[in-house]
Amino acid sequence: MNRMILLNNRPEGKPQQSDFKFAEEEKPKLKEGEVLLKTKYVSVDPYLRGRMRDQKSYIEPFELHKPIVSGIIAEVVESKNPDFKEGDFVNGMLAWKEFQISTGKNLQKVDADQAPLSTYLGAVGMTGLTAYFGLTDIGKPKEGDTIVVSGAAGAVGSIVGQIGKIKGCRVIGIAGTDEKIEMLKNDFGFDEGINYKTTSDMRAAIKKAAPNGVNIYYDNVGGEISDAVLANIARDARVVVCGAISLYNDEKTPTGPRVTPILIKNSVLMQGFTIGNYQDRFGKGMLQLAKWLKEDKITHKETIIKGFDKIPQAFIDLFDGKNTGKMIVEV
Ligand SMILES: NC(=O)c1ccc[n+]([C@@H]2O[C@H](COP(=O)([O-])OP(=O)(O)OC[C@H]3O[C@@H](n4cnc5c(N)ncnc54)[C@H](OP(=O)(O)O)[C@@H]3O)[C@@H](O)[C@H]2O)c1
Repeated sequence: MNRMILLNNRPEGKPQQSDFKFAEEEKPKLKEGEVLLKTKYVSVDPYLRGRMRDQKSYIEPFELHKPIVSGIIAEVVESKNPDFKEGDFVNGMLAWKEFQISTGKNLQKVDADQAPLSTYLGAVGMTGLTAYFGLTDIGKPKEGDTIVVSGAAGAVGSIVGQIGKIKGCRVIGIAGTDEKIEMLKNDFGFDEGINYKTTSDMRAAIKKAAPNGVNIYYDNVGGEISDAVLANIARDARVVVCGAISLYNDEKTPTGPRVTPILIKNSVLMQGFTIGNYQDRFGKGMLQLAKWLKEDKITHKETIIKGFDKIPQAFIDLFDGKNTGKMIVEV
């Protein structure tokens, strides 16, 4: 039998184990033109929370009682498709199943000799590309700029800060534990870090760390942390609106300070994006990230949890900051 994980309920507030259901199906059989895939690494990502709502968005909501889908690295264990052979590894948006059939459409082959397989989900994959295009295309870093990154110790944030350093910027990271702040400075080369969970006055802390104002704010979290950064924004600053994890579990979006006067007064550009916007440039972005990794100009961390049955908990744990770097489940 083949195990799979279905969306059992649409979560209310923080997702719970009971929102997921383990089920079994007959092991799938191959037809001509198809490949049989064995799941190796599963990416759990904050944006999956949005797909669990029955709401129109840039991507279709998950259907109830159907398998969840996310970025997965899988091994081809049987092939009736001439483009793939047994032993190939592929990256694709695949179901949370131990085995599954694919026609090969929308699968990208990945090469374990070029980069460790799990990094195709992180540093040279979706989250690395998000960091790269969001910062370079929207943030447009210039030497001497001060960058603030929220969610700084996570998959996207840790790469943003390091690219900021490559571009000659001063980088301040915001994260949720003292260990993460130490890691930002010691392992990722950030200039400063602020623990938002132990800092009572975030506005004052950011002002102290960036006395001349924030030229680029790379926002992964939204909410009150972003309110505090925007209160310290510099003239002609760029605000890269990448994520808003602090709001994803809210049933009603809270009202914060109205920011438009700040944007007007300081001629600030604030732009949201989804990584799909850059699809035609993924190849170029991956090459650049792989080159920086090889040259040790960037480093990456992963939190790898072992076991198919741990996938729901690993996803839930993102909302408690249990990961540093990319959260991945190895099956
Ligand atoms: N626009 C796009 O195309 C795109 C693509 C990928 C990701 N994203 C977004 O980018 C953000 C980061 O994604 P990721 O994959 O790199 O995840 P991640 O940062 O590796 O993991 C999530 C982190 O968010 C922090 N967090 C959780 N709840 C929080 C809260 N209430 N307030 C502040 N921080 C909180 C936790 O760290 P702490 O210990 O520091 O709290 C946690 O480790 C997410 O918002 C995601 O949706 C956007």
